Amino acid sequence: MNLILLGPPGAGKGTQAAAIVRSTGLPHISTGNIIREAIAKDTPLGREFKAYAESGRLVPDELVNRLVEERLGREDCAHGFLLDGYPRTIAQALELDGVLGRRGRSLDHVLLLDVADAVLIERITGRRTDPETGRVYHLTFDPPPAGIARRLVQRADDSEDVLKRRLSEYHEKTDPLIPYYEEAGLLRRVAGTGSVTDVQRRTLAVLTSVPAGPTHTVGARS
Ligand code: AP5
Repeated sequence: MNLILLGPPGAGKGTQAAAIVRSTGLPHISTGNIIREAIAKDTPLGREFKAYAESGRLVPDELVNRLVEERLGREDCAHGFLLDGYPRTIAQALELDGVLGRRGRSLDHVLLLDVADAVLIERITGRRTDPETGRVYHLTFDPPPAGIARRLVQRADDSEDVLKRRLSEYHEKTDPLIPYYEEAGLLRRVAGTGSVTDVQRRTLAVLTSVPAGPTHTVGARS
């Protein structure tokens, strides 16, 4: 199964990706995680990414496209993948279509996590990550166990100011992907509010109940 998870910053893409991976075994390809790893390791590419990612701007298409093409060519993607945070522009979507087409592959579902902007600020400012396991928590909605609370870290781009920039990038550059994938018959809307478990149930239901590939009759709203 070839999947894309689409949605604004803080919509719960990473959280739902973990559930999808547990249920399907697909490799999880998060461009945000790859970019943050390169920044943390201070690689030459990481130094290029830093100014973009930490100020909430999108990294240039050609850099991200190269990363994703290389990642999709690895052995573990032979039977499917879960892309989280890619594509994010029409140019990236066209590039992905080309990469998949050249390999005789296509997308099965594009899952859009629908969450209103007003909800996202609270989700983003309360997010904390465990640097030892990579597990993401929320101080209120998904609190960490007391024993590890002190070692949790906050992402450099998780302030209210940077979130404004990320949201404006999302609406300007990523929103156009919604009609793009809708017209391709691949968009499945999933309500992203409610508890993590509620959203998980809706997300997994789409994967088991909506036929894979282009469909112009099912909207999987819940
Ligand atoms: P990226 O890491 O992809 O960030 P993002 O898209 O802004 O998304 P987030 O990771 O912030 O949120 P999420 O939807 O995964 O939410 P999560 O599950 O953590 O990208 C970062 C940067 O990298 C970009 O700004 C850009 O610079 C660069 N970049 C990445 N990809 C790129 C690309 N393709 N092109 C160019 N540049 C690129 O949940 C958020 C919080 O809410 C957590 O605390 C969680 O516990 C909580 N939560 C989750 N679900 C619920 C729920 N149902 N109820 C209550 N709380 C919940």
